[in-house]
Amino acid sequence: MGSRSRTAATGDVTTHASISESLSAVRLRTAVEADIPALMRIELASFSDPWNASAFRSLLQASAARITVAQLDEAVVGYSAVLRAADEAELANLAVEATWQGRGIGRTLLAAAQATAAAEGVAAMYLEVRESNRSARHLYEALNFATIGRRRGYYRQPDEDALVMQWRPGPRDAPHAA
Ligand SMILES: CC(C)(COP(=O)(O)OP(=O)(O)OC[C@H]1O[C@@H](n2cnc3c(N)ncnc32)[C@H](O)[C@@H]1OP(=O)(O)O)[C@@H](O)C(=O)NCCC(=O)NCCS
Repeated sequence: MGSRSRTAATGDVTTHASISESLSAVRLRTAVEADIPALMRIELASFSDPWNASAFRSLLQASAARITVAQLDEAVVGYSAVLRAADEAELANLAVEATWQGRGIGRTLLAAAQATAAAEGVAAMYLEVRESNRSARHLYEALNFATIGRRRGYYRQPDEDALVMQWRPGPRDAPHAA
């Protein structure tokens, strides 16, 4: 992701993952400090340039940032991090534990972040993604993000360009849409 950075959230949301019958109920909630070990476990397994625990800690304390965790039974299995600045949001981080990937959890987290952003009147959400990250790009395109630019040599380990993607809430995403 970008500075591999983040939003504002909605409190607790309970949702049912649509894909797997084995996935009973995924609960989304705002992360708290006690989640940092689980966040770090997933972060380290997901990225070659991971955030560290103090990055998560400062974001948890930042009013312009929101980390949402996906919890399955008692386990944290994924998270999103969204940053807000004025009327824009940045999806700074999104990851799902490898064992639980491909079951709709990433989609659920991202859709919730978009719903929150729309409800808060965000004009646009942005993200950066490695060009080679096909699964993430497919997810973003499926949820109506469009590629609007490229940052050359943005990533390290390995060196790679970032694609910049943007999503703007549509009329159906408006807070008071019928
Ligand atoms: C990207 C990531 C968050 C997706 O989470 P997920 O829970 O596996 O994704 P979902 O099951 O919700 O899938 C949603 C969509 O993503 C795409 N997708 C997911 N896995 C995919 C794969 N292996 N290949 C291609 N597309 C894939 C599909 O478009 C899918 O939609 P579909 O189910 O209708 O086909 C997850 O793979 C992950 O944590 N990856 C490592 C960390 C990372 O790269 N984060 C993004 C940084 S920019």
